[in-house]
Amino acid sequence: MNSPTDNQTFNRAEKIIEGWYWALRSSELKRGRTAPLNFLGRELVVYRGEDGRVVALDAYCPHMGAHLAEGKVEGDSIRCLFHYWKYSPEGRCTEIPCLPFTDFVPRIRPWPVTEQYGLIWIWAGATPRQPIPFAPELAGQRCDYRLGRSFVKACHPNVMMINAIDAQHFNSVHHLPVHLNLEPEVVNENCIIFRNATRIPPSSWLTRLLGRFYQDALTYTLSYWFGSTGSVTIGPDFLHFHIIFALRPSADGRSEGQTIFLTRHRDGLIGKLVNRALLMLTRAMSAYFAKGDTLIFKTIRFNFRTPIKADLPIIRFIQHVERQPALPWGLPVETTVPCPLTAHVDQPEASPQSMPEPEVAR
Ligand code: FES
Ligand SMILES: [Fe+2]
Repeated sequence: MNSPTDNQTFNRAEKIIEGWYWALRSSELKRGRTAPLNFLGRELVVYRGEDGRVVALDAYCPHMGAHLAEGKVEGDSIRCLFHYWKYSPEGRCTEIPCLPFTDFVPRIRPWPVTEQYGLIWIWAGATPRQPIPFAPELAGQRCDYRLGRSFVKACHPNVMMINAIDAQHFNSVHHLPVHLNLEPEVVNENCIIFRNATRIPPSSWLTRLLGRFYQDALTYTLSYWFGSTGSVTIGPDFLHFHIIFALRPSADGRSEGQTIFLTRHRDGLIGKLVNRALLMLTRAMSAYFAKGDTLIFKTIRFNFRTPIKADLPIIRFIQHVERQPALPWGLPVETTVPCPLTAHVDQPEASPQSMPEPEVAR
């Protein structure tokens, strides 16, 4: 791809596609605790109320800008440490200790939050329009999961997502004797699925042996959400393995990632032991694939100047990303409470003596 224009979204840290992004592990946020979070380049406070519910708000108090993560959780609300103003989970100021009776209601922007797979997810946008990313084969099923390590890679999530649909690199980087033909299906505005349509070639004793485990095409399915989080399903017909790569872009265009290993829930002690073994196996497979790609992610400067026919799935993915609306996410927080002083200090002729009395809440 040539140098980006303002209209391009792909591989641009400042263009955030509206959607769900992982924020932090559920276990990292106990009841009554707060956490500061740089989320997609924006400063947030995340806290867990005493009722167990997680809340995400813009980080800076609309009074004087203290970071709310320094504050204290009270019930389902948070109180700023600086002058003790208190905010509800909806971001509404519900108490100003030195101003008990007032119509003056400062607000701070809240962000939709949910928890799934042991992670806290935040919707970048006003109202969620999509579910949390999932493996299509497990849709609607109860799942067991295990979290892998979180990681940071030096390239944008859009570029990392490409890796799993880059058919050529399976031969060169991963040395696998497969020829993938990935057919795209656009599920909705934010989700695209790629499915392999080719069988394993009977070119050696190894591939002939592998081919016995697949009635039709080799199972290899990717579903991509918001251009940044993807699920992978692989494995023989009798046993499929599922991995979700939850990625989000950092302010400087790197990928902050978290892997999730998934399997359908199995009942009883035997089911529990089987799932534990399956999830360990899934983790080992994920590590194998990640290892080969790590070197590439460290140094790549993505510049897709010479596409060939084998790159067609990548082109389809980029087109899908470009069609998704991006938010002006990194812009300064707009507040619904204009500062009563700012309007005056911006005027060049104004001096402290000539400044009119500011309007302040009483
Ligand atoms: S800065 Fe938060 S209450 Fe004053
Ligand atoms: Fe790879």
